[in-house]
Amino acid sequence: MTQEDTKKEHVVIFDSTLRDAEQSPGASLNVPEKVEIAHQLARLGVDIIEAGFPVSSPVQFLAVRRISEEIEGPVIAGLARTVKKDIDSAADALQPAKRWRIHTFTSTSPVHMEHMLKMTPAQVLEKAVEAVKHAKGYTDDVEFSGQDAPRSDINFLYEIIQAVIEAGATTINIPDTVGYSIPQEYGSLIARLRENIPGIKNVIISTHCHNDLGLATANSLAGVANGARQVECTINGLGERAGNTSMEEVVMTLKTRRDLYGVDTRINTTEIYRTSQMVSRLMGIIVQPNKAIVGANAFAHESGIHVDGLLKHRGTYEIMTPESVGVQEAKMVLGRHSGRHGFKARCTELGFELTPEQLDDAYSKFLEIADKKKEIYDEDIVALLEDEILEITETYHLDYLQCSCGTGTLPSATVRIIREGDILQEAAWGDGPVDATYNAITKATGLMPELENYSIRAVTGSSEALGEAILRIRHEGKIFVGRGLSTDIIEASAKAYISALNHMVGRINNGHNRKS
Ligand code: KIV
Ligand code: ZN
Repeated sequence: MTQEDTKKEHVVIFDSTLRDAEQSPGASLNVPEKVEIAHQLARLGVDIIEAGFPVSSPVQFLAVRRISEEIEGPVIAGLARTVKKDIDSAADALQPAKRWRIHTFTSTSPVHMEHMLKMTPAQVLEKAVEAVKHAKGYTDDVEFSGQDAPRSDINFLYEIIQAVIEAGATTINIPDTVGYSIPQEYGSLIARLRENIPGIKNVIISTHCHNDLGLATANSLAGVANGARQVECTINGLGERAGNTSMEEVVMTLKTRRDLYGVDTRINTTEIYRTSQMVSRLMGIIVQPNKAIVGANAFAHESGIHVDGLLKHRGTYEIMTPESVGVQEAKMVLGRHSGRHGFKARCTELGFELTPEQLDDAYSKFLEIADKKKEIYDEDIVALLEDEILEITETYHLDYLQCSCGTGTLPSATVRIIREGDILQEAAWGDGPVDATYNAITKATGLMPELENYSIRAVTGSSEALGEAILRIRHEGKIFVGRGLSTDIIEASAKAYISALNHMVGRINNGHNRKS
């Protein structure tokens, strides 16, 4: 993609959830989870999916390869240092994609070049040019990034950027790697690059901002206001440390304030909420309730004056509608009499293509839920289907759970777990019913990972809602996410713990026990 291909009023959305966000602590995803998110990013309408850093591990390579094979629509990008073997590996992984990009990066600030790269500016420039030329041998679409750009010498930036453009780079990314810049400064940096680099008019300038000072979105928008036409961002603003620019914030600002920016994106904004929920669920990182656009309270009005104003005219206190980002009133869609055909049709409408086996499994789970819950909402079905599609082979299966608790009673739990035909049964007590259940599971399985965090939420609003437990466990420095769904929150919690253990055991067995 070049500046010419891109209309001046179009901002390219480059999503780095699967690369920059995924490398943040505790966010690791396995290959089927990454592929699932990539499908959703394609439905969302991002222009580019940065699928990973292929040379960095076999799992990263495989994920980029699978995404390149399966995902249609967006350009698929792979990250590479300015090193030949990185570029070769990226090209190899990306090769099946219809349209793909090599994103090669180095560092341009004195502190990075001296202490991290241990190279002189001249050496950095030479390697950058070599890398871009090498990448160009594979694809026309080459992006170059100089990490820590705002702390770099501006004359060196002019020089290296002009040189990589001459070598063939078509997108120039300006990363504020440490989240140091402020909007006025970052905007003026973009403006100065445009004014002082002759070749820059033929390429797309990109922003890539980190959120250490809480300014990532503001900085990216300042970049756009000064002529940047690509924004690198992540869903829910996830990423290293305080995160990256939040995709939903940038997109909705550009849409809501088109009067100021005069530019558009190709994002189908009604898919934003669903994407945010999926990423949160699969990464096991909950969205803070007051998070702009996608937080649970983002459209909740409490104060009497606001509610009164809204009832008189929505525009009084609402600058965008919840529907525009895909937040809808929970809609009852199915019940136990809807039948297999109705269930299948709804799955397709919700964007899930199931194999006949997946449909069989999902339908029997649906019937189990329908026995306990009269009304089944879209959100319930999405949670159930995501579980089904990503389900790992169950090394451990929860067969029976009995839990007792109450005022003045010591909480206790008995579990029976099936492990490849063996029955493991134990009882334990704990500080509360969930703790007792987890202690019983630990005794039964003999597995003792550290519980990093645990949360439970109602998938929909009513008192008979499905409860979804999400937790993260740590074992030998690695994080595993577990999810569990049930109308009973203790059972949901037990299922989540066992699902995390299954992920863990699956990874120990090289991750080859996945269904999909
Ligand atoms: O923050 C950063 O500098 C990066 C680069 C690899 C673009 O993520
Ligand atoms: Zn980054």
